[in-house]
Amino acid sequence: MIILLLCVVLLCPTVYSSDASVEWCYHEPRCDSTTWSKNVHDYCSGTRQSPINIVTSNIMANSKLTPFNFTGFDDNSTFFSIGNTGDSVVVSLDGDKMTVEGGDLPSKYTSVQFHLHWGNGSSVNGSEHTVDGKRYPMELHIVNVHSKYNGNAKAAIDAKDPNGLAVLGFFVEGSSVTSKSKGWEILTSFLPNITNSSVTTTDIINTTTMNSLLEGVDRTKYYRYQGSLTTPRCNEIVIWTVFKDPIKVNHDLIQLFSTTVQFKGTSTKMANNFRGVQNMNGRIVTSQVASAASSTVIALTFYILAILPFICWL
Ligand SMILES: *[C@@H]1O[C@H](CO)[C@@H](O)[C@H](O)[C@H]1NC(C)=O
Ligand SMILES: *[C@@H]1O[C@H](CO)[C@@H](O)[C@H](O)[C@H]1NC(C)=O
Ligand SMILES: *[C@@H]1O[C@H](CO)[C@@H](O)[C@H](O)[C@H]1NC(C)=O
Ligand SMILES: *[C@@H]1O[C@H](CO)[C@@H](O)[C@H](O)[C@H]1NC(C)=O
Ligand SMILES: *[C@@H]1O[C@H](CO)[C@@H](O)[C@H](O)[C@H]1NC(C)=O
Ligand SMILES: *[C@@H]1O[C@H](CO)[C@@H](O)[C@H](O)[C@H]1NC(C)=O
Ligand SMILES: *[C@@H]1O[C@H](CO)[C@@H](O)[C@H](O)[C@H]1NC(C)=O
Ligand SMILES: [Zn+2]
Repeated sequence: MIILLLCVVLLCPTVYSSDASVEWCYHEPRCDSTTWSKNVHDYCSGTRQSPINIVTSNIMANSKLTPFNFTGFDDNSTFFSIGNTGDSVVVSLDGDKMTVEGGDLPSKYTSVQFHLHWGNGSSVNGSEHTVDGKRYPMELHIVNVHSKYNGNAKAAIDAKDPNGLAVLGFFVEGSSVTSKSKGWEILTSFLPNITNSSVTTTDIINTTTMNSLLEGVDRTKYYRYQGSLTTPRCNEIVIWTVFKDPIKVNHDLIQLFSTTVQFKGTSTKMANNFRGVQNMNGRIVTSQVASAASSTVIALTFYILAILPFICWL
């Protein structure tokens, strides 16, 4: 029964508060995401920004993208608290229990929090990444910090380490099946308690697991690229993993996000809290070999085109 106004203690270690002095928002023209590259020049106007539109025909095969080892994802004591940061709903995680490694990440990573991005009701989809232009209703981001920073995301940000964070992105797709959304039922049951910005509750402890929220997702198939935080200061310190297979969540539960919690400093419902896609600037998205067969076809096509003049000449 305790609602804690403990933003400073519980939420400020998250990436959201990397620089509180920068004013930014999603919902007002003077500070919405179209203004960030100007208002937050470092680093929102950089060349390795996120999110991106993943063009599947341009993906390159990478055989090093093996399955991950997830630790603590089945443990119901890893969720510390759930809070409204004014820009998203964030669950703080127990980094001593939850880690991610493998999948061609350069180290073991400590899971520190997850949060969500969504649209508005059933009319606007709100994932940050898109695939061949398709936007999903919602996107879940699990933020993980390189083991050398001992779970301190701020230290990774200050170090400007391009491998400082590894964020796992999961698309959320609407489903009419209710039975498979148990974890999401539990998660959304806390939303009425955190409608106001800066409110946090620890009642979520021991109620559910990360695996429960990711139920049914094939976690061996994913896209990989180098990018940034999708909120100011948009630091370019993120190894992105975006899973192909969406989480299927009941439509009604997805709707609760845009109808329950409020943006910071307002009574406006939090909706459309996603950034638009950014330029690739020559970056390449890689993926597992099997599903990247098209890149072999492309390579073969280039090869044939290259030798064609010689064949004709002969
Ligand atoms: C959470 O919200 C529900 C519904 O509004 C309420 O019944 C419950 O007492 C609240 N819990 C806390 C801890 O405030
Ligand atoms: C993942 O876990 C398996 C089984 O515990 C282990 O053999 C393997 O070395 C681990 N891989 C990484 C990258 O940690
Ligand atoms: C939102 O996503 C759903 C399911 O992924 C799709 O069927 C629908 O067309 C999308 N809606 C909009 C408005 O983009
Ligand atoms: C939310 O804030 C309003 C005023 O801004 C206040 O009246 C209300 O009690 C707050 N609700 C909670 C759950 O703290
Ligand atoms: C959560 O469960 C663990 C054991 O599984 C227990 O030690 C701890 O006291 C519980 N915490 C709360 C807040 O219920
Ligand atoms: C949490 O996990 C502990 C230990 O595995 C288990 O005893 C307990 O019943 C679980 N609680 C819930 C709510 O699932
Ligand atoms: C969401 O949609 C409602 C009406 O459907 C509208 O009043 C509200 O302004 C929208 N929110 C945002 C942030 O666009
Ligand atoms: Zn995010």
